Amino acid sequence: MEWGMQNRLAQLIQPDGHALFLPVDHGYFQGPTRKLEEPRKTIEPLLPYSDALFITRGVLRSSVSPNNAKPVILRVSGGASMVGKDLANEGIAASMEDAIRLNVAAVGISIFVGSDYEKESLLNLARLVDDGERYGIPVMAVTAVGKELGKRDARYLALSSRIAAELGATVVKTYWCEGFEKVVRGCPVPVVMAGGPQVDTELEVFEFVSDGMQKGAIGVNLGRNIWQNDFPVAMIKAIRAIVHGGASAQAALEIYEGEKAGVAAKP
Ligand code: 5RP
Repeated sequence: MEWGMQNRLAQLIQPDGHALFLPVDHGYFQGPTRKLEEPRKTIEPLLPYSDALFITRGVLRSSVSPNNAKPVILRVSGGASMVGKDLANEGIAASMEDAIRLNVAAVGISIFVGSDYEKESLLNLARLVDDGERYGIPVMAVTAVGKELGKRDARYLALSSRIAAELGATVVKTYWCEGFEKVVRGCPVPVVMAGGPQVDTELEVFEFVSDGMQKGAIGVNLGRNIWQNDFPVAMIKAIRAIVHGGASAQAALEIYEGEKAGVAAKP
C-alpha cells in the first residue's frame, strides 16, 4: 500500500487494530436530526473519545475547530432527502480536490444494493475508489438501507458488504445483525458497525457492539445511539471500553451507569 494511504489508515485504525468512528453526517439527508440540531454542541464533548468523525464538509467547516479536530472521514455522497422521491438517488457531492483541501483521512459514500439506483451508487463508489487511489485517500463504503430497515439481515448485508469490498472500498460500514459472522467472513476488508435508530436500552447497544467485535468487526461508526442518549459522554466512554478495552456488555453498562451517576451528582 502506498505511504499516504497507509498513513491515513493509521490515523483511523488505532494500533490495537480497532476504531471508534463518530458519525454526525445524518443532516445531509435528514436535516436537523434530533440532538444534532446544533452540531458543534453535540460534537465537542464527544471528540476526545472518538478516533475519527464521519461528517459532511458543510458541518466540518461550520462546526468543528481546525485546531482541535480528530481525523475526518468526509461524507461525499448526497443529493437526496427524507422527503424526496428516493433516498437511494445519490451522486458524489464533494470533489476529491476539496477533500484534500480539508486534509481528510478518508472519504465515505453510501451504496444502495437492490434499489432502483443500485448501478449508479455502485459506479459512484468505483469512481471514488479510482480518485482515492490517485491521491492516497481511503474510501469507506456505507451499506445503506434507506427507509427499509428490515433489510438489515445477514444475507443482504453480506451481499452489500462483499460488493463494496470487490469494488475497492478500503473499509465497509454495515449494520450488526443476527449471524453477523457471515457478513464479516464474506468481506475481505475491515468492517465497522453502525447503530441505526436509537434502541430501547443501553444494554442492547453494548450487547450488539460486543457481539460484533467478537465476530470480527474492527469497531463502530455509531451515531444516534451515542448522541441521542441523554448521557452521550457516558455512552461513548462505555462503547470505547468495548471497542478498545475488550469490555463485556455488562462491564460497559457499569461504566455507563457510573458515568451517568457522576454527571447526575454534579450540582
Ligand atoms: C447516515 C449514516 C451514518 O453515518 C450511519 O448510519 C451511522 O450512524 P447511526 O449509528 O446513527 O446509524 O451513514 O447517514
